[in-house]
Amino acid sequence: MAKVEVREFTPAEMRHHRSEKWRDAPADVLPLPVAEMDFEIAEPIRNLLIEMVQRSDLGYLGPIPELGISFAKFAKNRWQWTLDPEQIHTVTDVGVGVVEVLRLFTKPGDKVLISSPVYHNFYTWVNETGVEKVDVPFLQNKNGWEIDFDGIKQAYKSGIKVHILCSPHNPIGRVYLKDELLQIAQLAHEHGVVVISDEIHAPLTFAESTFIPFLSLGPVAQGVGVTITAASKAWNIAGLKCAIVVTQNDAMSKRISALPPATHYRASLLGAFATATAFADCEPWLDAVLEKLDSNRRFLKKILNEKLPTVRYEIPECSYLAWIDLASLNLGENPTKVLLEKGKVSFNPGHTFGPHTGQFTRLNFATSQNVLTQAVDRMVQAL
Ligand SMILES: Cc1ncc(COP(=O)(O)O)c(C=O)c1O
Repeated sequence: MAKVEVREFTPAEMRHHRSEKWRDAPADVLPLPVAEMDFEIAEPIRNLLIEMVQRSDLGYLGPIPELGISFAKFAKNRWQWTLDPEQIHTVTDVGVGVVEVLRLFTKPGDKVLISSPVYHNFYTWVNETGVEKVDVPFLQNKNGWEIDFDGIKQAYKSGIKVHILCSPHNPIGRVYLKDELLQIAQLAHEHGVVVISDEIHAPLTFAESTFIPFLSLGPVAQGVGVTITAASKAWNIAGLKCAIVVTQNDAMSKRISALPPATHYRASLLGAFATATAFADCEPWLDAVLEKLDSNRRFLKKILNEKLPTVRYEIPECSYLAWIDLASLNLGENPTKVLLEKGKVSFNPGHTFGPHTGQFTRLNFATSQNVLTQAVDRMVQAL
């Protein structure tokens, strides 16, 4: 089979994009926040969308067995995980999925555990549902970021209803180990906690790490776990709006079947069929994009070492988000703001991911190496 090429957008194309990343940025600012890629989508998805638009096939979403079947095929191929495709529910996006599942399993005021730093919308979802956020931050030590199991145990004992996991982790870039996930499943089982595992970044795990789907871990995990995932991050189709809620246990599936039926057709027809195509036919594109991202994560390390040697950046194990500690630059309370104002380069500020990471910034390296070089040059200019 011919090797798939992933084409980078040209600078002119990027500036014409209508997505948040590009619309939000004034002309003199180079934008590297928002988790979307500056790469053309996979050809099978593009062809499908063109065909559907040409036929004006743009109605409401009805039955789509292709979605469960294609995800099961992908999960088997990628993670050796055999799953029941019948236990898959369609939702608009991961955010809607988490909010709707939280509404099913909690009432306002119930406690929900998260571990900061974490993807900023975890805070939005918790606020939206009126639950009480209990934060058990990751512990940062010389080995990197570690799960605070003692903290989690204490929190579980205090009556947590739901634990939202970000697996693999945005923004830390860590892929959880099997033992860690098994421990979480066991603790959740002992304390009657439901684990929502947000696995949207999982297909973007780099070759040296092994992603373990939470629900592949056997009956204990399946008894407590609900996975919410999408093709939107890995195949760059966030604007199409579709995600899936997965269970692998009859009792859990029954609880999830109480989701409002409308959640299904609130996903878009284009998004649902593009998602099925991504899982079924677009692994070669995914492999090609991973090759590119692998090169970019190392290239970023190289140019940061050369131009800003005091900043700390550990090459992530998944996805395309660099989590960079800027404390050594002494840029005050909000270094990301200084980089924007003085360097005209935008990233996501560390404080939006958690209360202890204000000195960090999150940079999206799913772009050309030329843009990455410009971004680091602008950081230098801001000093
Ligand atoms: C961990 C995580 N979950 C969810 C999302 C957003 O997913 P959606 O657009 O499907 O709500 C993102 C986006 O970057 C993310 O990083």
